[in-house]
Amino acid sequence: MRTRRAMLPDAEAIHRLIAQYSGDGTLLPRSFADVCENIRDFVVVESGGSVIACGALHIYGPHLCEVRSIAVSPRARRQGAGRRVVRSLIRDARRHNIGSICLFTRIPAFFERLGFAPGRREDLPDKIFKDCLACPRLHCCDEVPMLYARVSMPDAIKMPQPLLARHELVTLR
Ligand SMILES: CC(C)(COP(=O)(O)OP(=O)(O)OC[C@H]1O[C@@H](n2cnc3c(N)ncnc32)[C@H](O)[C@@H]1OP(=O)(O)O)[C@@H](O)C(=O)NCCC(=O)NCCS
Repeated sequence: MRTRRAMLPDAEAIHRLIAQYSGDGTLLPRSFADVCENIRDFVVVESGGSVIACGALHIYGPHLCEVRSIAVSPRARRQGAGRRVVRSLIRDARRHNIGSICLFTRIPAFFERLGFAPGRREDLPDKIFKDCLACPRLHCCDEVPMLYARVSMPDAIKMPQPLLARHELVTLR
């Protein structure tokens, strides 16, 4: 297995991987155009010349990024590819010196093994404005918000005040 940054020719394989898990709501759907536009967010794991896993790091700002679209081909599960993807995205977040990493999941046990801990939804307004407000499950969400324990501190999640004013972000509390 080899973990590497995704390149545009990987977009089709990434789109297929995500589509396998978005039909039942496990993952948020992503169009082919969306994958292409954000290809630089993605890492992939290759085995035998094929892409068998993918994941993306969405950057909100210096205060916060989100691990998303983690998918491993059904035939390659439980062989360490998912772990490789998440660890690679954590390294990326560190390289960018981002204050905190969040994610939303229904399988917290998988992410706890990788250093994430349950967090509070109300500390993550960026995510709520990006995805949750448009989600049909807004008021019955069963996903657990998680934060990467080693870099996350409640104060680090808030965007620095001058940036906050510039982007006119609304605080939920
Ligand atoms: C969840 C998923 C990414 C895991 O990837 P994987 O390659 O199968 O997992 P790995 O082999 O890297 O497993 C790493 C560790 O997590 C554990 N694990 C794997 N899947 C798990 C799950 N669903 N729940 C809890 N723990 C899990 C493994 O046993 C392993 O534990 P260990 O470190 O003690 O050996 C993969 O099953 C998948 O693509 N699922 C469908 C899409 C999805 O749910 N994505 C995440 C949405 S937030």
